[in-house]
Amino acid sequence: MRVVFLSPSYPPEMQQYTRGLAEVGATIYGVGDAPREGLPPDLRAHLHDYLQVPRITDEDDVLERVSAWLRGRSIDRVLANWEPLVILAARLRERWGLGGMSVDAVRGFRDKQLMKERVRAAGLRVPRSHRVRTEPETWAAVEEIGYPLILKPIAGAGSADTYRVDSPSELETTLARMRGVPEASCEEYIDGEEFTFDTVSVGGVPAYENVAAYLPKPIEARSQEWVSPVIITVRDLQQPRLAPGLELGRRVLTALGMGDGFTHMEWYLTSKGEAVFGEIGCRPGGARLVDQMNYTSDIDLFREWARVACWRSFEAVAPRKYNAAIVFKRALGQGRITRIEGLEAWKRACGAWVVEDELLRPGTPRRNWKHTLLSDGHVLVRHPDWNEAHRMAFAAATGIRMYAQ
Ligand SMILES: Nc1ncnc2c1ncn2[C@@H]1O[C@H](COP(=O)(O)OP(=O)(O)OP(=O)(O)O)[C@@H](O)[C@H]1O
Ligand SMILES: [Mg+2]
Repeated sequence: MRVVFLSPSYPPEMQQYTRGLAEVGATIYGVGDAPREGLPPDLRAHLHDYLQVPRITDEDDVLERVSAWLRGRSIDRVLANWEPLVILAARLRERWGLGGMSVDAVRGFRDKQLMKERVRAAGLRVPRSHRVRTEPETWAAVEEIGYPLILKPIAGAGSADTYRVDSPSELETTLARMRGVPEASCEEYIDGEEFTFDTVSVGGVPAYENVAAYLPKPIEARSQEWVSPVIITVRDLQQPRLAPGLELGRRVLTALGMGDGFTHMEWYLTSKGEAVFGEIGCRPGGARLVDQMNYTSDIDLFREWARVACWRSFEAVAPRKYNAAIVFKRALGQGRITRIEGLEAWKRACGAWVVEDELLRPGTPRRNWKHTLLSDGHVLVRHPDWNEAHRMAFAAATGIRMYAQ
């Protein structure tokens, strides 16, 4: 099993997928823009070979370089688990005549407007939306959609440039802010709770499923610095109120022609109990969501994903044992972290339910919370009982305070 894996070292969790691929017996050809000498030694040990390219997101250039590099060698899979590279992986597969998802199928997971059109065409509930390129187009779309609405880039990630707009004057300000965005989606604002639906799928059928709750919704977590965003995986997937979301998620995979691998969907649950589609990627969720799933079931999805991607088989038994809650913290003040308050008391109170503490320690420069949900680090806690997991997470959100100067 010879596998080309794109960007094996960045983002850092890609090193775990590389390890997973090695553990299921793949011979791995890594391609990335990180210098070979800079790769961590344990990652290098898993790679059969590595090609350094000038810029991994320069698709045409990487296509040529990788094809030249591998000429005469036969390859079985081209894989990518990082959103900006999923189209490139599909282009390489098509160029070499390999199986796996086509460029067209992957576009349905990458282009937000196309994804919504395809999901809507399957008869599923999607926010009303228009693709807009100019200000007059936007005003025309707003006439039809009404307020409140959402304006966001077509190829967005990380809630960057995503705005809720409540009035014509807010639209004026938002349009000014979005001048650098070539193409946007203008859509109906869905009021409701927001969840993920994550899978590892074989031929578009989930072999593993997960739901996590966003507390609060990402758009709020990304616009208010004082918020400590909390995400909790839901242990009990059988509860009736989640059923419409799971059903929606499974049908979306069929509608979009999912193949093998991870998917990460976001959806809304309205007060009427209706599930509404948000968006989906054919790659895992970021910001430690896969670790959370692993803590939920005591499994190793990095390896199980690799088994699915290589051998189309999911072998782990995945009992849902815990609600796993991650809490991201943001320090008060700029510069370097100076002190953390409340951490030790919180840990003492939660005891063995705490599974990770990766808060940045004093002396470390703050991360840009607008650029990364990871913010100034996180704690991870799990509990079999939802209310307990929720209580401990919010105790960390409010009780742990970080300061910077
Ligand atoms: N139609 C909508 N109705 C209500 N909220 C929305 C809508 N579209 C987007 N949002 C809010 O904005 C957030 C970001 O939107 P979306 O997920 O489409 O963009 P993104 O940039 O890909 O985000 P991320 O990378 O953080 O997942 C959503 O998680 C949700 O909170
Ligand atoms: Mg999103």
